[in-house]
Amino acid sequence: MMSAGGAVGGAPSTAVTADRRYLLDAVRRFAHGARTVAGVVRIALIGSLLTPKENPKDADVLVTVTDAADMRALAAWGRKLKGAAQQRNLGADVFLVDQAGQYIGRTCSYRACRPRRACAGRSCATGRWVCDDLQVLTLDPQLLAAPPLEIWPAIVVRTALPRDVLSLVGLPWEERREARTMEQVDVQAFWKLLRPEVVVWAVAEHAGQRSICPLGWTMRTSGTPPMMAISVAPSRYTHALIEAAGAFVLAYPGRELAQATLFCGTNSGRDTDKFTQAGVTALPAGQVQAPVIPECVANLECRLVEQFTTGDHTVFVAEVLAAWVHARPGPLLCLVDVSAGYETLLVEEGKYRFGVVRE
Ligand SMILES: Cc1cc2nc3c(=O)[nH]c(=O)nc-3n(C[C@H](O)[C@H](O)[C@H](O)COP(=O)(O)O)c2cc1C
Repeated sequence: MMSAGGAVGGAPSTAVTADRRYLLDAVRRFAHGARTVAGVVRIALIGSLLTPKENPKDADVLVTVTDAADMRALAAWGRKLKGAAQQRNLGADVFLVDQAGQYIGRTCSYRACRPRRACAGRSCATGRWVCDDLQVLTLDPQLLAAPPLEIWPAIVVRTALPRDVLSLVGLPWEERREARTMEQVDVQAFWKLLRPEVVVWAVAEHAGQRSICPLGWTMRTSGTPPMMAISVAPSRYTHALIEAAGAFVLAYPGRELAQATLFCGTNSGRDTDKFTQAGVTALPAGQVQAPVIPECVANLECRLVEQFTTGDHTVFVAEVLAAWVHARPGPLLCLVDVSAGYETLLVEEGKYRFGVVRE
């Protein structure tokens, strides 16, 4: 049987722990205030809050500032963040980076910025509200240039995140500066925007052989008669079975079949009986030579009418001869992105993230 999928993003195993929630909320309030300070151009989250640690000790933010930034105002927001953290015996730091990507120190922790014995800053006396203790601390230039999570003015995610981070830190979109630029991206990056993408199993059987092939690439093509198209790579075992049988079933999994979908989508029916492995039942369909799966939310019996090659996939066009829907249909399983709005992130492994859209 399949193994339980580990969360690559490493979400905390329990509900968000109190300290995490508290620190993330403090960061959100900091970002909300700091974004209004003159000369603040970017706010990012770094450090242990980005790991799945249930009890992180501190909140670290990285703020990019112009030379003319109002450091006094920024330091005041930094003190609020620190103060909030200290109330729970936790820590916080506001690290500063200039627009050339150089680390320039931390915001001053004191209300009055003047020399103090405890202060290791090189130019504390200048009243710039920057504690430039660069001899104490250095930061990786790569971290400064491309921090794992930017939260303002835009959300930029460069790493798998615990699932609580974006929902708790994310500011409402309308509070972010309007994006004025477009960036040319790889088409693969665009395709991720098409999520959530309903996942459907193409189920086919011929001469005693059968398989289940999870698909993301499907579409309706006709209302009367009802027709659908699916895109299947020739290397899939299911491809040969569909061609031979001239039919297939489209079975739509729900939330209980997330793990089974991962299994069926990463193993071939040439080597294993996926029905047994996934723990699902094959029932004879009414009108086509392919099994329906009663554990799925819905099943469509499809008769192949046409096929053609598009790039590295074959498009199979089929007429839907019969449709079956579970008596109490739950939400359909989807490939999901990292944003909020999904009831559950059911399985996350490699490039696959499954969830259902919140009801
Ligand atoms: C979520 C998901 C979506 C997929 N979408 C497609 C798809 O649209 N077309 C395709 O050819 N393969 C797709 N695959 C890959 C096949 O499901 C996978 O190669 C499967 O193991 C093929 O099984 P088979 O060799 O038994 O036919 C997808 C896999 C997953 C997990």
